[in-house]
Amino acid sequence: MPSLLTGDAADERNSFVYVVAALAALNGLLFGFDTGVISGAMLYIRETFELATVLGVSLDPSLIEGVIVSGAMVGAILGAAFGGRLADRLGRRRLILVGAVVFFVGSLIMAIAPTVEILILGRIIDGIGVGFASVVGPLYISEISPPKIRGSLVSLNQLTVTTGILIAYVVNYAFSAGGDWRWMLGLGMLPAAVLFVGMLFMPASPRWLYEQGREADAREVLTRTRVEHQVDDELREIKETIRTESGSLRDLLQPWIRPMLIVGVGLAVFQQVTGINTVMYYAPTILESTGFEDTASILATVGIGVVNVALTVVAVLLIDRTGRRPLLLTGLGGMTVMLGVLGAVFYLPGLSGVVGWVATGSLMLYVAFFAIGLGPVFWLMISEIYPMEFRGTAMGVVTVLNWAANLLVSLTFLRLVDVFGQSGTFWLYGALSLAALVFCYRLVPETKGRSLEEIEADLRETALGTDAGRDSTAAVEGDD
Ligand code: GLC
Repeated sequence: MPSLLTGDAADERNSFVYVVAALAALNGLLFGFDTGVISGAMLYIRETFELATVLGVSLDPSLIEGVIVSGAMVGAILGAAFGGRLADRLGRRRLILVGAVVFFVGSLIMAIAPTVEILILGRIIDGIGVGFASVVGPLYISEISPPKIRGSLVSLNQLTVTTGILIAYVVNYAFSAGGDWRWMLGLGMLPAAVLFVGMLFMPASPRWLYEQGREADAREVLTRTRVEHQVDDELREIKETIRTESGSLRDLLQPWIRPMLIVGVGLAVFQQVTGINTVMYYAPTILESTGFEDTASILATVGIGVVNVALTVVAVLLIDRTGRRPLLLTGLGGMTVMLGVLGAVFYLPGLSGVVGWVATGSLMLYVAFFAIGLGPVFWLMISEIYPMEFRGTAMGVVTVLNWAANLLVSLTFLRLVDVFGQSGTFWLYGALSLAALVFCYRLVPETKGRSLEEIEADLRETALGTDAGRDSTAAVEGDD
């Protein structure tokens, strides 16, 4: 498997790192499962509770449903907002443990919720776990990986996001006969428990350990996850770059970090405003409007989930060979074209027969192009482009924006369709996708094969001029 994953130098790596990365990638599974499960569960939650009041206040049922669905995203925004700083303070591994517990508790509360208020509380708690997971999963994997396979290993996290979504679709389908939404939501406890127990046996991030002044522990982790002769080189690089983490929000605004902050924020927002989660959350509704029956549209949704997983596998296999930029740019180019086609198809009167199939095919290709580029590359890039001293904080900030944009798009999609129609809405996402293409072409750097420390040194050099970049690194060396 290693040679398939990365091509050259298969003998140059220690296979334990694959185990660590695969286990940590369960963070993505929590995220994906949570994303995918609620739309199906909602159909039956409606039957259990009378969705008329929350905390004694009468509300429109669709508003209450909106709160149940988006409660997890609000939680995720909170989780990501604190997750970055916590990852720096507690350490990456410990935050993963905390996140797994939070997610477990949230899922349990939802599964046994006696009232709608408690269900909403469970959703928010579970969302906080997802918010933690979305920051710390990629961060931990990135720091534990050797540079040559970092892209593939971090992208495993996006692979489990897509797998989690697919599992949720299948679970929804499987439980739909009995309408048992408590089981649907409660199943999230399973991966959370596996993640918790597994992480107890995994090492902490060597970069974080070093930064805590625990050089011997950092060396031990590198020894467990690298082949022998790589250990000293990598430790030396870490020493050269790491300075004391301040990580305050104000520090993030320093001019030399700004270009990468713009890249992170741009990718975070574009990943959502190009519309992927309208498909993830509303696929059956979109498909029904192309003339599919109920069951067919649920099955086609599973098909979309499969395409998402399959093309993410392709991205995992390619990302360290082709690099991040080619995948990102190809993906965005394809998304733009497919959104254009989708808009055109929905423009035609009468969507039955061939046209319905063209719409479904275009939707699948759109997801495919997302899965090969913007999906994994965003999560990977934000774990690579920030200097160690701000990495947790910076990832927290951009992840909050990613969840906020996700919430905005999900809350506005149906309204946009009312106002502009499906065509206008897809064309809007298409225009944003074109803007994303230009943005990425001009601003996103290539990070393939470089160590996190090299990426950081380059950033300093570009921003401060070669000498200043070297000086600041040398000064840190001197401090040691
Ligand atoms: C990415 C996005 C997430 C989306 C998923 C779909 O992980 O961040 O919002 O649901 O891809 O595959």
